[in-house]
Amino acid sequence: MGLTDLSVKIGSLTLANPLIAASGCFGYGVEYAGVVDLSHLGGVAVKGLFLTERQGHPPERIVETPAGMLNAIGLQGIGVHRFIKEKLPELRERRATVIVNICGSTLDEYVELSRILSDAEGVAAIELNISCPNIKEGGITFGCSLHGTFDVVSAVRKVTRLPIIPKLTPNVTDVASFAKASEDAGADAVSLVNTFLAMAIDVETRRPKLSNIVGGLSGPAIRPIAVRMVYDCHRAVKIPVIGMGGIASAKDVLEFMIAGASAVQVGTANFADPFIWSKLLDGITEYLNRHHIPRVSDLTGTVDTGVHAAH
Ligand SMILES: Cc1cc2nc3c(=O)[nH]c(=O)nc-3n(C[C@H](O)[C@H](O)[C@H](O)COP(=O)(O)O)c2cc1C
Repeated sequence: MGLTDLSVKIGSLTLANPLIAASGCFGYGVEYAGVVDLSHLGGVAVKGLFLTERQGHPPERIVETPAGMLNAIGLQGIGVHRFIKEKLPELRERRATVIVNICGSTLDEYVELSRILSDAEGVAAIELNISCPNIKEGGITFGCSLHGTFDVVSAVRKVTRLPIIPKLTPNVTDVASFAKASEDAGADAVSLVNTFLAMAIDVETRRPKLSNIVGGLSGPAIRPIAVRMVYDCHRAVKIPVIGMGGIASAKDVLEFMIAGASAVQVGTANFADPFIWSKLLDGITEYLNRHHIPRVSDLTGTVDTGVHAAH
């Protein structure tokens, strides 16, 4: 024990360990500072930010589903300026590795947000949310078009030296081609998956359970699909892949890493158990020790798909 190296590299960025709090599931980080030492996390991806404040959708915005959760928050948020003024200083003080998730309605908005964040002290990376299924304008429109993805990433690349991490939508046929378009445009890594477009109906009233009618599905229900997508992307690009979708145990983290993830994000599980982080780290360390693996990064992409002779 003690000799295990849990650090991982995402481009020029070194994370203390592979565990990142997923955007939208951990507030702006500071809300959780009372229960989690933010400096002990690999990173904190903060709630998606637009240039300006947004109200989001009216309730109902969250519905529980079998092994998952359906949400249509509509990217409620305080906007980038208030974030920098009100949240970033405390995140800096608490030595959090801050990944700012940004969303725009237009390409210019992504560029402007990236420019503003590049000048702010204490931002480690920018996650480009081009995959939110719950807003009408922008976002997923870019993430569902190869040209749109390429254009946003290259435009942002021109205005920032910060690592850029486009967050990919699973609501496409060939997610690996979107990872490739991101890499070609100069991304430092890709993260996936955002939520799956989904719907739930109350049969008594015949009304959709969400005010937005449709929403995004997250949680263990989506995990095997997300693992497959991480596997596909890892094989398609050289840049690191950050995997997520239904992680709720150390075994799930390991599965994503073996499939090809260099780091992972944990979203929905944090709502059920805000103390999950130390349990995940303990489980990962125990596994590495038991398998005599000195560095967690050695696991990335080590799935053995060799065809073995049938007995
Ligand atoms: C309530 C909620 C809010 C979310 N908000 C955002 C967001 O603002 N930006 C973003 O990129 N992803 C957002 N997501 C997606 C998560 O970051 C993550 O990609 C997805 O939930 C899959 O991971 P999980 O199954 O571990 O939750 C949100 C998810 C949930 C459940």
